[in-house]
Amino acid sequence: MRIAVIGGDGIGPEVIAEAIKVLRAAVADTAIETTTYDLGASRYARTGEILPASVLSEIASHDAILLGAVGDPSVPSGVLERGLVLRLRFEFDQYVSLRPVRLFPGVESPLVGLRGSSLDILVCREGTEGPYVEAGGILRKGTPAEIATQENINSAFGVGRITRYAFGRAATRPRRKVTLVHKTNVMTHAGDLWMRTLNSVAADFGVVTADYCHVDAALQYLVTAPERFDVILTDNLFGDVVTALGVAMVGGLGLAASASINPERTGPSTFEPVHGSAPDIAGKQKADPTAAILSAAMLCEHLGMTSEASRIEQAVAEDLLVRQGEWAARSTAEVGDDITERVAG
Ligand code: IPM
Ligand code: MN
Repeated sequence: MRIAVIGGDGIGPEVIAEAIKVLRAAVADTAIETTTYDLGASRYARTGEILPASVLSEIASHDAILLGAVGDPSVPSGVLERGLVLRLRFEFDQYVSLRPVRLFPGVESPLVGLRGSSLDILVCREGTEGPYVEAGGILRKGTPAEIATQENINSAFGVGRITRYAFGRAATRPRRKVTLVHKTNVMTHAGDLWMRTLNSVAADFGVVTADYCHVDAALQYLVTAPERFDVILTDNLFGDVVTALGVAMVGGLGLAASASINPERTGPSTFEPVHGSAPDIAGKQKADPTAAILSAAMLCEHLGMTSEASRIEQAVAEDLLVRQGEWAARSTAEVGDDITERVAG
């Protein structure tokens, strides 16, 4: 298994080091070959490069990408996000942005009503279309008559494949339910395509219940009645917003894993904690590596190593249960060591 490692900026390299440690314990150490790529704010500051073509084609030959975090106050917001994170999603056709919203036992949700309950939602967010395509432009810039357009791209191809993926995942889960989250009452053209696609795919997956919820209502239900959701299917931008709330509900950024997947494996998929680079605590061993470690478990699952994936998840679950909110008493590496020990043991 060849993994391209992009530690990136801030706390990225520290948390990724722990994820690799755990991965090596779960999978036979010799089965993992890593190539480290120096990408992110410091390379950009040094050379002006974000993702050179030669690096992109080297990364393409790997089975997966493990990404820490990118971003630094020295770089204008959006430059690295678009030039690196989004570029990988587009170049490698990572059309499934997979984000579990799962409350592990022992983790305190900021929502009092959720404490002690179990919550397990899987968000399947489309990853290669929507306004993220950057279609559109500015006319008459800087004049009072300026026009800015940002087109929301939805193709039958793109909506179809993410919808089939979501139903496929739902079919393997106990509750077998897909809820499309959109805004069909206002986004009538895109909404029409999503809704028709939902209904036609639902007809092919008899065992899965199809449901629909407007995005504004969905955010309220997530807080007041999250048990309503099993698999959430949504577009790129709504998915970004929905998962940000989901992450906050189940313990915050330190625990939030994600994967940008190319299910057919025509290119490598990226596994990354949802948290940012947190430059204020970088290099201090103060970051929680759990989100990076859970992302490594998603990597194993994607590459067909399901028992290795569950061993890592189980080890994290055990660690979360004993830490009782006190993880900060340990360094980043100590948390990684403790989880590694559980995986190895
Ligand atoms: C995320 C991030 C990205 C997104 C940014 C960094 C482009 O917010 O992964 O959720 O909007 O998808
Ligand atoms: Mn986001």
